[in-house]
Order: sequence, then structure tokens, then C-alpha cells
Amino acid sequence: MSPEPRTIWITGASSGIGAATARAFGAEGHRVALGARREERLEEVAKQVEGAGGRAFAHPLDVRDPASIDRFARAAEAALGPPDVLVNNAGQNLSSLLHEASPEALRADVETNLLSALWMTRAVLPGMLERRAGDVVFIGSDTAQRPRPYMAAYSAAKAGIEALAKVVEMETEGTGVRSILMRVGPTGSEFGNQMPKEQIHDILASWKYWGVFRNMHWMPAESVARAVVRTVAIPVEESYPAVVEVQPGGRKKEPRD
Ligand SMILES: NC(=O)c1ccc[n+]([C@@H]2O[C@H](COP(=O)([O-])OP(=O)(O)OC[C@H]3O[C@@H](n4cnc5c(N)ncnc54)[C@H](OP(=O)(O)O)[C@@H]3O)[C@@H](O)[C@H]2O)c1
Repeated sequence: MSPEPRTIWITGASSGIGAATARAFGAEGHRVALGARREERLEEVAKQVEGAGGRAFAHPLDVRDPASIDRFARAAEAALGPPDVLVNNAGQNLSSLLHEASPEALRADVETNLLSALWMTRAVLPGMLERRAGDVVFIGSDTAQRPRPYMAAYSAAKAGIEALAKVVEMETEGTGVRSILMRVGPTGSEFGNQMPKEQIHDILASWKYWGVFRNMHWMPAESVARAVVRTVAIPVEESYPAVVEVQPGGRKKEPRD
């Protein structure tokens, strides 16, 4: 049986996990509002969402700009109605050692990965509380708990996301609104494209040295997308999946003799 269609807002829906999540919700017949800066890419994903059986609305969004968030929220609500689910997904990593990073780059990482989620969540919560329903999903990272060199601002911001998700959980307790932290592990997306090619060897060697990089095992963005769709499908009166850690699927081992 198909689930009741819901309205889903996704930040950073132009590629990777955000785009896959939009398509996965579309395939279940939901209404999806897609926000990001690359408009052509958003339009492509919107077509895929509609092709999969959902309804889509694409609108430019720069999560570092509160005025852009405001414009996105008003346009998305007018097009598809108020959000039943917000997926705070937009993210970036500057891939630099802290002492070599510019203040502007550090600011960009914190604004994109942390402040954006504060602003987006603040924008949707009053309506969700009034309707006594809604899921706010935070796409976090396992770097929050296992931080890495070359990811100072990113790791700090993702640790902040874990705190933010917990605070929203406590502040909305008993209202019908849920705060869900998806702590995501290595995933194939365009994220790695931001790494400076000439430094990749040094970056990977430093992660190996500190024991946070054990293999080249990544999961497809679709795996994270399915975990998000399945998690928010759990009825609020059934259970509260406050923290979900999503890691690459375990490879099947040969049975022991
Ligand atoms: N890949 C991994 O291994 C991994 C692991 C753990 C967590 N994550 C998290 O997963 C999320 C998605 O990343 P991904 O792996 O799917 O990488 P990705 O393919 O690079 O996607 C990042 C998305 O964020 C958007 N974005 C960046 N800056 C933005 C801004 N200022 N305003 C609006 N949108 C912005 C990008 O869109 P535009 O450039 O078009 O704006 C893009 O759609 C991030 O929060 C990341 O931290 C990824």
C-alpha cells in the first residue's frame, strides 16, 4: 500500500545524497521541494522525481543566506504546501589544514553545514508545532564522533549538528514533531570532488595514520536516501528514531568451517 503523500523539503538536492533522497521520496509518490544553488541540476533532479511518480518543485536556494532561505520557504509552501518533512542535507568541506585555511573558507564550511540547519529548522518549526506533526532530518556525519585532519570546520560543524538535533528533540518533545539525526558514513557523491587533487595522498595518509580510514568501502547515495525515506515512514506514535547511523553495507563473509 502506498503511503499517504507528504510534502518534503530537501536542501542540497542538486547532487549526491540530496538528489537521491528526492528521487526516493518521489518514487513513493511524495511531493518534493528541491533547493540548491545549481538551478540546471535541480531541474534535472525535479524531472527525475516526477518521472519516478512524485511531484517536484525546484527553487534556487543558498543556505548561507537567510534571505534566500526565506524566499525558498515562501515559494515552496505556495507550490506544494507546508513541509511535513525537512531534510537538512546541504554540505561542503574545504579540505584544508586549519592553519592553511582562509577565514572565508572556514566561515563557508560552518555556515553551509551548521548555520544553514539552524536557520532552515527555525523556519519550519512554528508551522510544524502548530500542526502537531513533522519530521526534521539532519544529515550528519560520522566525522562528528571521529573527526579527521583536513576537516576542522566540517567536523566541528557536524558535531554542532549532533547537538542541534538533540536540542530540537528536547524542545519539541511530546508535540508530534520529531528531530532525526542521520549520522552518515562514507558515501559516493560529488563530495570528494572538492578535495584538492595534489593533496589527496597526504589527506588519505593522515586519515589512515589516525585510524579513521580503514578501507575504500563506500555506499551509494541511494542507500542513505532509502534509510531516510524508511525512517520518516515510521509513524510517530510507533517509535522515535532519534539517531540513525548509516554505514556501508556489511560484506557477506564465508561461513567458518
Ligand atoms: N559523501 C560522504 O561521504 C558523506 C558522509 C557523511 C555525511 N555527508 C553529508 O551528506 C550531505 C550531502 O553531501 P553529498 O555527499 O551528497 O555531497 P554533494 O554531492 O557534494 O552534495 C552537496 C549538496 O549540497 C549543496 N550545497 C552546498 N552548498 C550549498 C549552499 N550554500 N546552498 C545550498 N545548497 C548547497 C550542493 O548544491 P549546490 O552546489 O548546487 O548548491 C549539493 O546539492 C552533506 O551534508 C555531507 O556533509 C556526506
